[in-house]
Amino acid sequence: RTTAVVLAGGTGQRVGLSIPKQLLKIAGKAVIEHTLSIFQQAESIDDVIVLMAPGYVSDVEKIVAKAGLTKVVKVIEGGSTRNETTERAIAALGEGLAEGEDRNVLFHDAVRPLLSQRVIQDCVDALDRYQAVDVAIPSADTIIVTRTHGEDGAFITDVPDRSRLRRGQTPQAFKLSTIRRAYEVASGDPNFQATDDCSVVLKYLPDVPIYVVAGDEYNMKVTQPVDVFIADKLFQLASTAVPQPAGEAGYEELLTGKTMVVFGG
Ligand code: CTP
Repeated sequence: RTTAVVLAGGTGQRVGLSIPKQLLKIAGKAVIEHTLSIFQQAESIDDVIVLMAPGYVSDVEKIVAKAGLTKVVKVIEGGSTRNETTERAIAALGEGLAEGEDRNVLFHDAVRPLLSQRVIQDCVDALDRYQAVDVAIPSADTIIVTRTHGEDGAFITDVPDRSRLRRGQTPQAFKLSTIRRAYEVASGDPNFQATDDCSVVLKYLPDVPIYVVAGDEYNMKVTQPVDVFIADKLFQLASTAVPQPAGEAGYEELLTGKTMVVFGG
């Protein structure tokens, strides 16, 4: 059994709207409706739970009812950090589990509304072999490590070899028992700090290999104001079902991740 957990507990301070960015309408639908629809359509996903920013649970329930998102079985409040939101999801998932039973769980950012079916399927397939799975893409930019010196600003301390660097996306997929164990160990660490879930497994269950599935560039996270425009443009491309230079496939298939589209080609 595979459950998708949609993490929507944030308020989107960096985008800076009066509502959480996951409720912003892009291409005619709330960002979170796009995201939930992708999981609704995914063959290998059995059910979906949503962790929403406090005060906005009923907004999601309305979207779910109106759009007929039948796989969504639970909408509950998130926590005050992303990791707290994950922990709430783990607790909620454990409630329905029999002794000794396990399941697959995919944690996905609500604000990545252009996730492809290919990436979901690759994550689920990888869970046949691994207990923990991340999704990442190569970095086009050079990544530098800095140290800040008070008022003077930042200085480079290292430039890691770019060929080994990847940019982490979501979903991050786990056996429920594994991610639960990782958070149990982490709860004993007074200095616990993380921004994603794979790093919790990496740090607290160092013997568990974390497999990396290839993500894609379209699976962007709406983080800064400019990302709203980029996402809008990508949805426009996705809905233009005319033959494109990439060949027979056309843009409909852009979001399946099967097709590489050469812009301006
Ligand atoms: N998230 C969450 N619970 C939190 C914080 C974040 O579930 N307490 C979710 C967000 O809703 C989002 C994803 O984690 O889908 C990625 O986080 P981010 O882009 O940082 O979202 P926000 O925290 O909303 O943004 P900001 O940091 O700008 O406030």
